[in-house]
Amino acid sequence: MLVSKSISTFLLLSLASILPSQVSALTLDLNDTESLQNATSLVAYGLMDYYTGNQYGKTVGMFSDPYYWWQAGGAWGSMLDYWYYMNNDTYNDDIMAALLHQTGDDNDYVPLNQSTTEGNDDQAFWGIAVMTAAERNFTNPPEDQPQWLYLAQAVFNTMAMRWDSDTCGGGLRWQIFIWNSGYDYKNTVSNGALFHIASRLARYTGNQSYVDWAEKVYDWMYDVHLISNGSYMYVYDGVNIGDNCTTVTPYQWTYNQGLLLSGCAYLYNFTGEELWHNRTKNLLTAAGVFFNNSILYEAACQGHNTCNTDQRSFKAYFSRFLGTTAQLVPETRNQIMHWINTSAVAAAQSCSGGTDGHTCGINWFADGWDGMYGLGEQMAALEIMVNTKALSKAAPYTSSNGGSSVGDGAAGTEPHPTNLAPLHITKGSRAGAGIITAVIGISIVTCALWLVF
Ligand SMILES: *[C@@H]1O[C@H](CO)[C@@H](O)[C@H](O)[C@H]1NC(C)=O
Ligand SMILES: *[C@@H]1O[C@H](CO)[C@@H](O)[C@H](O)[C@H]1NC(C)=O
Ligand SMILES: *[C@@H]1O[C@H](CO)[C@@H](O)[C@H](O)[C@H]1NC(C)=O
Ligand SMILES: *[C@@H]1O[C@H](CO)[C@@H](O)[C@H](O)[C@H]1NC(C)=O
Ligand SMILES: *[C@@H]1O[C@H](CO)[C@@H](O)[C@H](O)[C@H]1NC(C)=O
Ligand SMILES: *[C@@H]1O[C@H](CO)[C@@H](O)[C@H](O)[C@H]1NC(C)=O
Ligand SMILES: *[C@@H]1O[C@H](CO)[C@@H](O)[C@H](O)[C@H]1NC(C)=O
Ligand SMILES: *[C@@H]1O[C@H](CO)[C@@H](O)[C@H](O)[C@H]1NC(C)=O
Ligand SMILES: *[C@@H]1O[C@H](CO)[C@@H](O)[C@H](O)[C@H]1NC(C)=O
Ligand SMILES: *[C@@H]1O[C@H](CO)[C@@H](O)[C@H](O)[C@H]1NC(C)=O
Ligand SMILES: *[C@@H]1O[C@H](CO)[C@@H](O)[C@H](O)[C@H]1NC(C)=O
Ligand SMILES: *[C@@H]1O[C@H](CO)[C@@H](O)[C@H](O)[C@H]1NC(C)=O
Repeated sequence: MLVSKSISTFLLLSLASILPSQVSALTLDLNDTESLQNATSLVAYGLMDYYTGNQYGKTVGMFSDPYYWWQAGGAWGSMLDYWYYMNNDTYNDDIMAALLHQTGDDNDYVPLNQSTTEGNDDQAFWGIAVMTAAERNFTNPPEDQPQWLYLAQAVFNTMAMRWDSDTCGGGLRWQIFIWNSGYDYKNTVSNGALFHIASRLARYTGNQSYVDWAEKVYDWMYDVHLISNGSYMYVYDGVNIGDNCTTVTPYQWTYNQGLLLSGCAYLYNFTGEELWHNRTKNLLTAAGVFFNNSILYEAACQGHNTCNTDQRSFKAYFSRFLGTTAQLVPETRNQIMHWINTSAVAAAQSCSGGTDGHTCGINWFADGWDGMYGLGEQMAALEIMVNTKALSKAAPYTSSNGGSSVGDGAAGTEPHPTNLAPLHITKGSRAGAGIITAVIGISIVTCALWLVF
């Protein structure tokens, strides 16, 4: 994903001519499943209002502007949670079509037409969605199509191949492509997502190689202080390779804490090791920084009203990861379900905006709707609400206890330019990169000339 999203915020605000025609906050009685179904079906419907892929001339799997490709991957993960926890398959055909349409030529979620925006983190969020499909035993694709587990393994393998030991003793760079800004940044969401996917693949497949990878990524992140060594296990944004990754950018985002937390939960559940149990519990304690009177918020931006389009969706992933952690690690359940229950009721009462009267806001401790809206707001409210069911549904399946998706340990490793690590760039892919850079350069010059004349 790109850094500068201020234009998107501008677009959103300029659209804010929506008038509340009816004020009817969703009221949630957590003891009444029908109340939860009614409320979440409205929120899910509102989420799908942003989906354009089933309209004539639009691309299957993509949401309306200004939402980037990566967030679509995130949103399909939220719709999978909606289906699973609420037993509602209304959108399953859309989910299936979207996940299969965006795989790219190599079935690894690196479609060439996303190469001006796609980073490791972007690819990972589609990988996380298909991993969920495998673990929840979502309907398998037709036999002539890549399977959920295969796709998740292809994402993992192509990301792992980009591991860069030449700078900072390891780590993934943010960007896949050298022409995107951020190529010199090693960020937590890319590395945390590699760790997270490895942990899930380890538990699903039982293959020890994934545990080894997860450990390697975790250790590197700890070494460069992306995971704090202080009394609270905070998780920070990233490090620059310029100074050998010694200066930590200290922003804390909910989804980063969640990627690490739930990754450790999967590893603990799979290995039974005290080490991963401790880390899960410590990451959970540190996650308290994102709660205000037990109501979840995006602490780094929400208070100043500066959350960009991407950041408004972070609470969605974090809510999802909290629910999974509660399923996998019994000792975390009281704390997590207390946070989820309290936040879900608060989120529901924020859903009283827009022309439909139940558009969700960003600030759940505001009294009613706060005037903010978007795909991220819908996703976050939906995820926190459906995850109140985390303990009433089966934990993620594995290949040996209910998961039927099949894969291939070598998925995605066939040689192709977009799959290669930066350190193994072939002449072909360099030439390809050169051509794309040249085309982008020429377009910029052309635009500039057009503006001048
Ligand atoms: C829901 O049920 C629990 C006991 O199962 C009870 O403690 C709680 O007060 C109930 N909550 C509401 C909102 O009725
Ligand atoms: C759920 O919606 C149905 C249909 O609109 C309605 O009949 C029912 O009373 C609602 N249930 C609750 C608990 O709100
Ligand atoms: C399933 O979701 C659809 C769309 O959101 C909704 O119309 C329908 O009432 C839901 N069914 C149940 C049982 O919640
Ligand atoms: C991008 O490429 C995919 C195939 O990978 C294609 O289905 C889609 O239509 C293309 N265009 C857009 C705008 O996504
Ligand atoms: C760069 O950082 C890595 C990871 O912390 C460390 O192992 C390596 O020794 C450092 N290199 C230099 C030249 O300081
Ligand atoms: C954490 O790391 C910093 C930087 O390497 C070091 O100065 C500090 O002593 C460490 N703290 C603990 C508690 O290990
Ligand atoms: C886990 O934490 C407990 C309590 O803090 C500590 O006694 C134990 O040594 C830790 N175990 C590992 C493997 O870190
Ligand atoms: C926490 O929530 C209260 C309202 O319940 C609000 O007044 C306060 O500003 C919030 N604190 C932060 C840090 O956002
Ligand atoms: C792993 O998760 C399952 C499903 O919730 C649970 O029954 C089991 O106790 C967990 N394993 C460990 C080691 O906590
Ligand atoms: C969360 O809400 C559910 C449904 O009311 C209830 O069964 C559970 O005990 C609650 N858990 C906590 C920790 O509040
Ligand atoms: C998973 O899906 C397969 C294929 O549809 C089915 O045979 C199996 O029973 C499902 N497993 C569970 C636990 O539902
Ligand atoms: C286990 O995972 C590794 C790492 O991805 C892979 O190379 C290997 O083929 C896998 N083994 C099996 C039996 O799938």
